[in-house]
Amino acid sequence: MMLSKTIQDALNEQIKHELYSSHLYLSMSAYCESINLPGFAHWMRMQSEEERGHALKIFDYINDRGGRVTLLSIDQPPSEFESPLHVFEQALEHERKVTALINDLYGLAHKENDYATQALLQWFVTEQVEEENTASQIVEELKMVGSQGTALFMLDRQLGSRMPEAEEE
Ligand code: FEO
Repeated sequence: MMLSKTIQDALNEQIKHELYSSHLYLSMSAYCESINLPGFAHWMRMQSEEERGHALKIFDYINDRGGRVTLLSIDQPPSEFESPLHVFEQALEHERKVTALINDLYGLAHKENDYATQALLQWFVTEQVEEENTASQIVEELKMVGSQGTALFMLDRQLGSRMPEAEEE
């Protein structure tokens, strides 16, 4: 069964949101570089790559279903942040918005009786739980770190060890 136009449009919108996420995290990475936190910068760069992976997952899915991908324009992300804590608070807030978008999309696929799209979105529902959890853990760690330079340095080292994610299928 071909994708309905409604679902195809909604999925193309979601590609845009995932690519915006990728853009946002790359911008956060640039900010972290600018304040000499290479580990934070690395972590955000990995996160940016992961978001691109999310966009491509939907891209491939639309094609597999015989639909047509249309890339939409992406907004400019913010480039200035107040602190590493502010960066991760913004990231967490952003992920909560993405979760709401995924939930809406799931609701739409349900309404349209599109079971294959619901199966795709199930992966994203699970992924969002993980993403929100990770961002909120780092927010909590940064609150504990406060203005202690040594603790921030240690956290930077820890975030710097993030490995690229293996392709999940
Ligand atoms: Fe693709 Fe972080 O949601």
